[in-house]
Parts: sequence; structure tokens; C-alpha cells
Amino acid sequence: MLDILLFGYLITCVSGQGGADVVLPCSLVEEGSGMGEMGGGALFSRTPATLVLRDLAVTPDLSPDTLTPFKPPDVPDPNDIILEAEVTSPEIPEAGQLLHADCNDQHVNCEISQYHPREAKEGTTERAYFIVSLQIEGGGLSLTLVLQTKSVNMDQSDHPTLIQSKLALPLSQSGTLLTEVVFVVFSGLQSQSAPLQGDALLDCGFRQQAGPPGKQVALEWRLQHRGHGRKVLEMKAGQPELESGPEVHVEREGSSVDAEQLIGTGNASLTLTRLKVSDQGTYICTVSAGLYQAQQVVQLHVIQPPHVFLSEDKLILRDKLKLSCHCKNYYPLDVQIEWLSLSQTDSEPIVISDHSDPYSPGHSPHPQPDCRGSSSRFLLDGPGFFGGNHSVLLPSDEIRLLRCGISSLCTL
Ligand SMILES: *[C@@H]1O[C@H](CO)[C@@H](O)[C@H](O)[C@H]1NC(C)=O
Ligand SMILES: *[C@@H]1O[C@H](CO)[C@@H](O)[C@H](O)[C@H]1NC(C)=O
Repeated sequence: MLDILLFGYLITCVSGQGGADVVLPCSLVEEGSGMGEMGGGALFSRTPATLVLRDLAVTPDLSPDTLTPFKPPDVPDPNDIILEAEVTSPEIPEAGQLLHADCNDQHVNCEISQYHPREAKEGTTERAYFIVSLQIEGGGLSLTLVLQTKSVNMDQSDHPTLIQSKLALPLSQSGTLLTEVVFVVFSGLQSQSAPLQGDALLDCGFRQQAGPPGKQVALEWRLQHRGHGRKVLEMKAGQPELESGPEVHVEREGSSVDAEQLIGTGNASLTLTRLKVSDQGTYICTVSAGLYQAQQVVQLHVIQPPHVFLSEDKLILRDKLKLSCHCKNYYPLDVQIEWLSLSQTDSEPIVISDHSDPYSPGHSPHPQPDCRGSSSRFLLDGPGFFGGNHSVLLPSDEIRLLRCGISSLCTL
């Protein structure tokens, strides 16, 4: 815990030649050897590490005076894990957001793990690879970066070559692991909401090092919800021999990805039309290009704010007044119907019924013996839409101002 606090202090917003450096406290996540205590999966170990993104393009609104270049430690320590990542090609999309988060003390979640590119046979490459996952707190930008180590100049006889003690990789003279960004998969919006029967665009994109044109890109979108997974769409594009154009498998009717944008601008965003309740969940966008494969996760919430109205006919039953409140066309179910009352003697409205589940009797903080609620909840014709009616009986001789309020527990 102390480590995290100390590292948190080190967040700085610094500038190198031309661009700015971002220094982020991270964790190196490794699969442990032991099994979980309760027989669960393998344990993960976390070691504090630092990521330095070098020379990010500076947006004009950031004053260069506030930026100072990254300074490596005075005495290199082989126990430190400092990944220095050169960002030239590809560039990091929306890098301005990272700089802003950094300067505004917005937390950026950062995890680093070792990575093995597809088809790279053991021992055929001297390079080592890392995968870095960065998320700006609050649901904005999320990035997955693949880093490749750069060769370290080892023929300096006056300094012994430093080897990082945990990773067994050679360090630079200043004690950092020199790497470059070779592949990026990102999403500008980690979570979004859309109405029932509406459309949604789930954001995902990628960048790769400039290579020969016509490189093949494979994209898969999957949906994961409550332990179940299913494929939504799969696409292979950019292969010259595919004369017929991109190869697409659509598993969910009404889902699409623009193949031209996928190849042309690296935009892998998924469009879903006529949303159903079953469309909500966690979407995983997996992009494979060349040796690399990386993912982004986007949450989709399907919600529908209710339409609320009071019944116009007030029923007078003996000495009681019956008032009904209706709401309809909402999703999900967790709405709360409550009646607020303002009598001549009250200065604040008081809650006279409060139903988180309209079927259960209400618990009123101010017991009102003559105020009984009754309610019903029903499925409307449209798929997934819900409706509810809620009534109260009041003594008709009391003059009150009544308000029926619906609050959805889901933030809209
Ligand atoms: C993809 O394109 C859509 C609209 O065409 C845009 O809103 C979105 O930001 C783009 N996303 C990426 C990752 O390029
Ligand atoms: C709920 O109230 C509406 C409006 O008065 C009415 O049309 C509908 O039949 C009611 N539904 C139920 C199940 O009580």
C-alpha cells in the first residue's frame, strides 16, 4: 500500500524534445506459481513498475513551461522496473487525453504484463514484448499497447551491463528498459448507454507500425454477459487475394463494421441496430494484425427512462381518495416508485410510500395508517418494455399536495 502511495506521488507531466513525456505508476502483473487458497485460479502477483511514454505530441493548450523532461534515477537500480516507451509510429491516439489526465491528477489505471506475439517461436527473437493496459478513470479513453524491447548498446566497457533482476533483460545506461510501441488497440468510450430499440456505436480502433500495404486485419467482436459468451461479428479484411472483398460473418442480425474504415483508418467500431435487452453486456473487440493481437472492452447498458403520469380520474371510495400513478415503457426493472406528500403543516415533502419492488409492501418513514399503497407491474407489448401502476388511498378530508416520483437506480 505504501508503495502505491509513494508511486502516486511520482506522477509528473514532463516534456522532452518537441513532445511531452508521461510518467505513470503501474503494476507488473505476473501469473503466480501457487493455486488460490480456495482452489480458485492461479494467483497473480503485482510488482510496482513505472511506464514512461516519451515524446507524445503536445496539444496547443498545454503550456510548455509546465512540462519538464523525464529524468531517470541518478543511480540506476537493477531492481527498478522502468519501461521507457518510444512513441513514433504508430502514434498513440488521443494522447492529449493522457497528458491532460496526467496534469489534472486524474487517475490512470496501468497494468503491464509480458506478452508473446503469435507465431513467434521461442528463441527466434531477441526481442521481448510487453502488453500495457491503460484506462483513464471515469470511463473515457482506454488503450492497450504492445511494446517491443529495443537493443541496448552493450559495448561500453567502462560500465558493466545492467540486467533487470526480475525480468532478466538488459537495461540502458540510465537503468530503464528501452522499448517502442508497435501496436495499439483503443476505445474512446469504455461504457455507454443506449435506449431499447435504438442504435449503438461501440468504439474501438487500432494503430500499427507502417508496413507493406495490404496487410491482413482480423477483427472479432464478442459479447459476454452473466457468464455467457457469444460471437457478434467476425471480419477479415485487407488481404489482396480476397478479390471478393472482406470476409464477414454476422452472428447478430443488425450488427456491422465498416470494412473500408477498418483498413483505411483503423476504425473497428461496431454498429448495433434495434437494440434488445439481450444486447447488453461486455463487448470485447479483438484486433489481430501481423504478429500482434490485442483487445478492448466496451460496456453497453440498455436503458429506457419511464414515461410517468398521474391518472386523471380521482376515485372517491367512501371517505377515501384513490390516486393512481402510472409509469410505462422503461427498462431495466429496478425503478422505484414513491409518493411524496406536502400537507399544510409540513415544510418539506415527506415520503409516504417507498417501493423498491412494487410487489412488496412499502416501508414508510412516517407511518400513515390511512395511506395504503397497491401496485402492479406488467410487461408491455414492446419487447422488454415494462410498466407499473401504483395507487394510494388517502383520507379525503386532508388536503395535501401529492407528487408521484419515479427514480431509476440506473444513472441515466
Ligand atoms: C469510428 O467512426 C465513428 C463514426 O464514423 C466515430 O464516431 C468514432 O469516433 C471512430 N472511432 C475510431 C476509434 O476511430
Ligand atoms: C395501468 O394504468 C393504465 C392507465 O390508467 C391502464 O390503462 C392499465 O390498464 C393499467 N394496468 C394495470 C395492469 O393495472
